[in-house]
Amino acid sequence: MNIAIIGTGYVGLVTGACFAQAGIDVTCLDKDLRKIEMLRQGRVPFHEPGLEALIAAGRASGRLAFQSTLEPDLSLERAEAIFLAVGTPTGPDGRAALTDLLDCAALLARTLTHGTLVVVKSTVPVGTCERIRTLLETESLEAQSAVVPRPRFTVASNPEFLAEGRAVEDFLHPGRIVIGCDDPAACRLLRRLYAPFDPDGSRTLTMDVRSAEYAKYACNAALAARISMVNELACIAGPLGVDMHAVCKVLKTDPRIGPHYLRPGAGYGGSCLPKDLRALIAMAQDHGEPAYMLHSVETVNTGQCERLLDTLLACLAYDFKGRCVALWGLAFKAGTDDLREAPSLALARSLLEAGARVRAYDPVAGRSAEALIPDSMFELCPDPYLACEDADVLVVMTEWEEFREADFAQVAEKLNLATVFDCRQLYDAALLERHGLRHLEIGQRPAS
Ligand code: UGA
Repeated sequence: MNIAIIGTGYVGLVTGACFAQAGIDVTCLDKDLRKIEMLRQGRVPFHEPGLEALIAAGRASGRLAFQSTLEPDLSLERAEAIFLAVGTPTGPDGRAALTDLLDCAALLARTLTHGTLVVVKSTVPVGTCERIRTLLETESLEAQSAVVPRPRFTVASNPEFLAEGRAVEDFLHPGRIVIGCDDPAACRLLRRLYAPFDPDGSRTLTMDVRSAEYAKYACNAALAARISMVNELACIAGPLGVDMHAVCKVLKTDPRIGPHYLRPGAGYGGSCLPKDLRALIAMAQDHGEPAYMLHSVETVNTGQCERLLDTLLACLAYDFKGRCVALWGLAFKAGTDDLREAPSLALARSLLEAGARVRAYDPVAGRSAEALIPDSMFELCPDPYLACEDADVLVVMTEWEEFREADFAQVAEKLNLATVFDCRQLYDAALLERHGLRHLEIGQRPAS
């Protein structure tokens, strides 16, 4: 089989590399020539475990090629299915911005001389696939010529559920594959494509296009809701003197609740959960639905940074001026260098505005963070212990493995106030106390 994928972000590249590994001929396309050049040299533009090796294998086997959409080429014409995996970021009104996706549809309309299967992998508002199909059927070359019968395009929805940092693993061993398709032949083709990742088909869920589009938002909204719920529970638990670790264990062992997404933290960030929640709220508004719950999920999440600041303020005798805070972890979570909507950046900005200095360390996301926060009071350190040098407190914002195994004797030596604010439930309080460090977690108030 032969497919093309437009968009070489996380979703597009991982999809391309994994399909190539499964023996399918894949061309990945992007309008960004620089990115295409990098990929042709075997370099991946972002940090994603396992992806570089998979791409190298794909290139070596001759099954994975990279092509600019600006250079004319036959890959789109030849493809049995064309996947669209471009970004749908938040637009000015909170809705998903479809500019890149509609540009892709326009490109297909200009390029293709026959109808084909277009598969939308990007997260899109309900009704977008229909919109793309109409566009293709009215604006394609063939449609504009006198060809009879008119060309037929099938547009299927095939949302992606991979999470950054374990994207390759998620794609190769999917929890489920969602295919929204109203055409039985196209549906069969998609099932065949995915068969290497779901041999008996039991994890493939087929449905109509609109439901598949919506399912993606429903999943991310459910994840965001769990995180806001557990963050709120932790904040109430703190002043009550409750041990949130113990409570989380109780929650996780109830099979009706399940064990995942119940780790209190600095709030959800990244390129998906925040933007998808906003887009879903916008869809609700369009239909006169108040979406009370979704608004609350968002309110709790945006308020989380304020809560972290309050805790830090209490640690620092209610004045940030002249204080120095060490931050470990800048990316929105461990395993990635993605800084989009990272809670650590919001916290760093607020601390700087309040007059504190920030010394930060991240194993992979450092350099790009420095470009985003150019304040002279923000210092990026090449080593986690250097970040603690001359700092009053340490805030651990992401769950990188190296933070779990930190040398606390060194940390204790350097911190003026010997306090670690553990925003990821990483440490055992007793262990830190043995090093003379005070351990604070989400919701806990420092004793005055
Ligand atoms: C998320 C979903 O998990 C994927 O299924 C989905 O495909 C993807 O969005 C997408 O729409 O493309 P991702 O953004 O990579 O994936 O991040 P997650 O691992 O889900 O984490 C999201 C945020 O929640 C992070 O800031 C993380 O630190 C936070 N989180 C997660 C918590 O604070 N507590 C938890 O227990 C779990």
